[in-house]
Amino acid sequence: MQKAAVIRKTEAYVRKRLEGEPTGHDWWHIVRVRNNAQAILRTEKADRFIVGMALLLHDVGDRKVIGKLEDDYTIAEKWLRKCGVPDDPRKEIMSIIQNMSFSASVGKKRESASLEFYVVQDADRLDAVGAIGIARAFAFGGSRARMLYDPKQKTQEFKTSEEYRKQTSSTIHHFYEKVLHLKDLMNTRTARKIAARRHAFTEKYLEQFLAEWEGRR
Ligand code: ADP
Ligand code: NI
Repeated sequence: MQKAAVIRKTEAYVRKRLEGEPTGHDWWHIVRVRNNAQAILRTEKADRFIVGMALLLHDVGDRKVIGKLEDDYTIAEKWLRKCGVPDDPRKEIMSIIQNMSFSASVGKKRESASLEFYVVQDADRLDAVGAIGIARAFAFGGSRARMLYDPKQKTQEFKTSEEYRKQTSSTIHHFYEKVLHLKDLMNTRTARKIAARRHAFTEKYLEQFLAEWEGRR
């Protein structure tokens, strides 16, 4: 297997599959996740092939992307086999993809994982915090016909991933239910630093939003 060639082929494949995806998981999400991963890899010595392949393929079978109720991990698995990726990196790549999502982690105790897992999970989560995270949340909310904000709703705490997946919270509530927690869920030091800055921006934004809502600013 020629690693560089497999990465290039996979880029073209993912680009085609995710082009124009309307819920915040389009090809540019992958490009941003890769930029985040590159920043993290400056201080973390993780395997670049495993990180690169996992981040490229992490959303191709996401239930939101394929419009199904369940994630389909066979899409990524089949692609890896087609590219002739040997068992060892393939299993690690698949394990990252299957366990990295926020919804998969709700209500579960954190188990230790590989450095490659931490890098990809942090890189993906960073794309949900800050200016980009705000844009993605409203894009996602719009795609599900969610309200921008509904002051009558209460902020919920989800105990299981089923509960999390069934929620219909307004997008502003989504910030309190997920986005604002992400900075404390980062695994690597570099991601924690980046997340802290993006988090501060998000908090400012929410403060302004709620002030405008009440006509105070
Ligand atoms: P998960 O990991 O749980 O599958 P994603 O990471 O795929 O969720 O979410 C993709 C983007 O959509 C993120 O920016 C996330 O904050 C946003 N998002 C997810 N659920 C909601 C929601 N209920 N309302 C608004 N935005 C959401
Ligand atoms: Ni993603």
